[in-house]
Amino acid sequence: MSRFLSPNDSHSDEFYEQFEARFDALNIDRKMRRLRKPKLKHIPKKSADEVLHESADVVGLEGGFNPTYKPSRHEEGWLLSSLGAFYDQSLITDVLYMVRGGKEATVYCCAAHPSTGEKLVAAKVYRPRMFRQIRNDGLYREGRALLTSEGHAVRKTDHRILRAVGKKTGFGVQVAHTSWLMHEYTSLQALFKAGAAVPKPFAATDNAILMGYCGDERMAAPALSGIRLDDAEADELFKVVLRNIEIMLRNDLIHADLSAYNILYWEGVITLIDFPQVVTSRDNRSAYTILHRDVTRVCEYFARQGVPSDAQAIVDRLWARYSQASPDEPFDDEDEDAAD
Ligand SMILES: Nc1ncnc2c1ncn2[C@@H]1O[C@H](COP(=O)(O)OP(=O)(O)O)[C@@H](O)[C@H]1O
Ligand SMILES: [Mg+2]
Repeated sequence: MSRFLSPNDSHSDEFYEQFEARFDALNIDRKMRRLRKPKLKHIPKKSADEVLHESADVVGLEGGFNPTYKPSRHEEGWLLSSLGAFYDQSLITDVLYMVRGGKEATVYCCAAHPSTGEKLVAAKVYRPRMFRQIRNDGLYREGRALLTSEGHAVRKTDHRILRAVGKKTGFGVQVAHTSWLMHEYTSLQALFKAGAAVPKPFAATDNAILMGYCGDERMAAPALSGIRLDDAEADELFKVVLRNIEIMLRNDLIHADLSAYNILYWEGVITLIDFPQVVTSRDNRSAYTILHRDVTRVCEYFARQGVPSDAQAIVDRLWARYSQASPDEPFDDEDEDAAD
């Protein structure tokens, strides 16, 4: 059941080098200016690389943030600039190890600050927007608001922002990137509140999310895809996953990348993760197809665990029941087993 990082899981040095080269040096300049007030003499302009390393020192060691996890030289700037804010806000006290560097994000296991009430938390740091490779992301964006870093929808009258996003200016790309991340964060908030099996969300910044951790100090929870379940447990967990799909639908959400790879398993308990591409079940014309794909993938995994089911029948039943449902309707526990 245990799974440790293989070197292939992490971002390559080349990735971090590219990140550094393209890093928004402006932000760092601003941060440095704040940290160095009052500015006594003119500071000559520096290369993005120099600025990033210097900023890492300022935010990091001088600010007291000196993680146990020792990133590569290139990863350091990325790590400290992404997680320094959580340290400054007294949400984390340390970064213990890297869980995984995936195609969309790198996840770190952090020691939680006592104020969170947790021992460990997961920090998911998004790849900068320009490196993300979601093909056809318009499919997921349809019917979704563009979210600001405060989680508010950008107004249709805010032409400046909408134009920048449309023209893909540097600012527009950052706005779109933040929106993607905020959809994950606000979905976690709504679903956690609704009692779904998702990590508890603690905080979000422009490019990172802090949430509950699945695993312990030594290792992260493996994905269900790597777990072989016995019959009774498979039967039970299939129902739990379907119940969670129902909770999502009640909240007008479809995961849109649900599979045994995005369900973590720890001590018999499962947690659904990875929500940036959630779609709204009411406003996305592909909602039915996307739901169908999610349910089919889940059914395929559980069929391999000895729980056969009719994915089509489950989708149709869910769709008939929830595509018109209001999220405020009370959840009817008696009827919740969609597997029947
Ligand atoms: N809350 C968490 N607790 C423990 N591990 C996590 C958590 N969230 C993500 N992970 C690990 O990080 C990996 C990548 O996270 P995920 O959200 O799936 O991003 P992506 O697949 O888009 O890179 C997951 O497959 C899982 O191994
Ligand atoms: Mg994933």
